[in-house]
Amino acid sequence: MEELVMINGAISKPSEAKISVFDRGFLYGDATYEVVRSYSGKLFAVEPHIDRLFLSAERISMKLPYTKKQYLDRMQEFYQKAPFDDAYLRIQISRGEGPITLDPYAPTTVNEVMYLRPLKPHPREYFERGVPVVIAGVLRNSKKAMDPDIKSGNYLNNVLAYKFAAEKKAHEAIMENSEGFITEATTSNVFCVVNGELWTSPDDSDILRGITRNIVITLAQGLDIPLKKKNFTRQDLKNADEAFLTSSTREVMPIASVNGDVLKSSPGPVTRRLQQAYYDYVKNA
Ligand SMILES: Cc1ncc(COP(=O)(O)O)c(C=O)c1O
Repeated sequence: MEELVMINGAISKPSEAKISVFDRGFLYGDATYEVVRSYSGKLFAVEPHIDRLFLSAERISMKLPYTKKQYLDRMQEFYQKAPFDDAYLRIQISRGEGPITLDPYAPTTVNEVMYLRPLKPHPREYFERGVPVVIAGVLRNSKKAMDPDIKSGNYLNNVLAYKFAAEKKAHEAIMENSEGFITEATTSNVFCVVNGELWTSPDDSDILRGITRNIVITLAQGLDIPLKKKNFTRQDLKNADEAFLTSSTREVMPIASVNGDVLKSSPGPVTRRLQQAYYDYVKNA
């Protein structure tokens, strides 16, 4: 079996999996989700993903019917139905279905959809030589609007940003905010290395605080790599010695060029050390 879907606890084939057209995830993106991957038959960092799921739900005032432990068990049980060594597992919880109205109190129960498939690995050369990225022409949402730190089902901002990458045959698109600072990419966080210092956007900036970003920050601290959480611009990024993206599926993925400008020495020694430290961390998790 290649793919599986589970809707509110009932397993179905992807081709037969159906959800109401009145579901608010479908109507408004009124949903939250997480993507977890597995390594060698074991879900990786699933607890912090569930913590973030709860944080996102709380911030959009969506009441979840189960405890964190129950979600953990549900995800583990679903994963056991098809424990591909390297799996992609997505859980999406929408506010549910009801009459068409923005009123968040209209639906009575949430809808939960889980989706599982083998993880398609990125080509090795992405990790060895790095990937091209572009700066998107659309800005990242402000924290004061649809807070990017909520992993909601509303990804239209990122979809529009990704269009720039797709058109330029780049791997990812990086978004700036209205102040001209780099925030994050469409589904990954951004780091750069300047004179041996590792920079990433502040925790309270217009970003989703990625689980992989958190792990990399901890690893950098353990390796005594000087780390600054600071705002930086596209010029800083282009002038950086090295830069990389992080996400659950990309791990630590070097950036080779930004808008066609090749970075000085990316991937370089700091990226390499963090890639190795990340692989070691995964092995021991
Ligand atoms: C907007 C955004 N930023 C960052 C990330 C990286 O998060 P994580 O490391 O938790 O996978 C994601 C992941 O999908 C994302 O959607």
